[in-house]
Amino acid sequence: MKQFLREIITEAGRRAVDYHQRLSELEVTDKSDTELVTEADKAIEDYLVGRIKERYPNHGIYGEETGEHPGGEYRWLIDPIDGTTSFVHGLRHFCVSIAVEKAGELILGMVNAPELGEMFEAEKGKGAFLNGKAIRVSGRSSLRESVLGTSLGCYGFEPGEDNLDYILGVKQQVRNIRFFGSAALHCCYVASGWLEGYWQSRINHYDVAAGMLMVSEAGGRYSDLRGETGPFSDEIMVTNGRIHEELAGIFRGVKVKLSK
Ligand code: IPD
Ligand code: CA
Ligand code: CA
Repeated sequence: MKQFLREIITEAGRRAVDYHQRLSELEVTDKSDTELVTEADKAIEDYLVGRIKERYPNHGIYGEETGEHPGGEYRWLIDPIDGTTSFVHGLRHFCVSIAVEKAGELILGMVNAPELGEMFEAEKGKGAFLNGKAIRVSGRSSLRESVLGTSLGCYGFEPGEDNLDYILGVKQQVRNIRFFGSAALHCCYVASGWLEGYWQSRINHYDVAAGMLMVSEAGGRYSDLRGETGPFSDEIMVTNGRIHEELAGIFRGVKVKLSK
């Protein structure tokens, strides 16, 4: 299964690069006020779904563009292009992200950023790798020396919907904040020790499933913004583990303020 996943995600990345090289011809539509979708997203997901169904006809699939395809105990979570806004604007921070769950547990995850030359892989119990080399989360243990990633994650303009409260809540306490425009890559950068943490609300499971496994296999932690683990909600916070409680404590304070 790992070799098969490697093969299809490599081909998906190659197709994404082909589309990226002829951006001016690309059909782009608005999915919502803040989200774009292109023919590349759709074609790459169709390719991936087709290959998986042919190889594993009994597996379920949950893909961003085609939704739920019911199946047995295995389920593939697909984001054909994570970072579509960057992709459409000619930036290179985009990736294909694919995870596999068995009976609800993440067992395999790969994230391919083809124009950055970064292929991340994680397998339950076997570690996380960047281009074949083992990766670990960073050793920094205080927020003060941490660089975090996030996104404006803007689904609306009401308080709490645009992430600004969380950014303001934490910005004085950290070294800095970065926005790479891809949830999956943010997680991989935590797994690689380049960022100490990443958070976002209003996120989908296919955005971060592979990234979550990457972080835990690299020695880090994931949870919701309160620091609670459990079934996936629509929030994600991944860290190197060392700053997890401190960051969750700050976010719990923001949540209390927002709920008043
Ligand atoms: C988006 C990116 C972005 C995140 C959004 C996602 P897409 O995914 O991961 O960083 O902030 O919430 O929807 O639309 O590019 O696949
Ligand atoms: Ca996404
Ligand atoms: Ca996407």
